Amino acid sequence: MHRLVYKSQAVGEPSARELADIACQSQANNKRFGVTGLLLIHDGSFFQELEGPRSAVSQAFARIRRDPRHEKIEVLEFGPARERAFASWRIGVGHPEDLPETARDFAFSLFDLIPRDAPERGARDRVRDKVRAYLAAFERLVPEGDRRH
Ligand SMILES: Cc1cc2nc3c(=O)[nH]c(=O)nc-3n(C[C@H](O)[C@H](O)[C@H](O)COP(=O)(O)O)c2cc1C
Repeated sequence: MHRLVYKSQAVGEPSARELADIACQSQANNKRFGVTGLLLIHDGSFFQELEGPRSAVSQAFARIRRDPRHEKIEVLEFGPARERAFASWRIGVGHPEDLPETARDFAFSLFDLIPRDAPERGARDRVRDKVRAYLAAFERLVPEGDRRH
């Protein structure tokens, strides 16, 4: 088991159609290769956690890092993981109801991440801390009480 966490910046402002394309492509590949995790999208910024067999995670990231739809990719963690933090692969966006129907099955609202113990943040402290740090960068998303700084 390996885990990869990175963040990046969208090139341009992705439309709901483009987000749904990324979501559907990712979900199909990840399911096929035993990769679980989450992708968060907010304000032109991506955050992704991928976990699964080392080769599957590395191969997914080799494709992802070449993708011209994002840039300024910053790896926050890559290494062995004892257990998965997520049971499936899902995408968190501000308004999942705006996505085409095909993507809605595995989409959730970013606002579901706001409670400190939200299951959407994953089952491992290391991952939850990274999700929290990412969310805390957005003034309007996370309430005061959940900020560390
Ligand atoms: C922010 C972002 C996250 C992505 N996440 C994944 C992913 O988790 N898994 C994946 O296979 N592709 C992901 N992709 C898409 C890949 O970059 C690539 O387009 C895709 O894997 C190619 O798949 P295909 O060979 O089946 O067309 C992501 C793309 C972007 C921009």
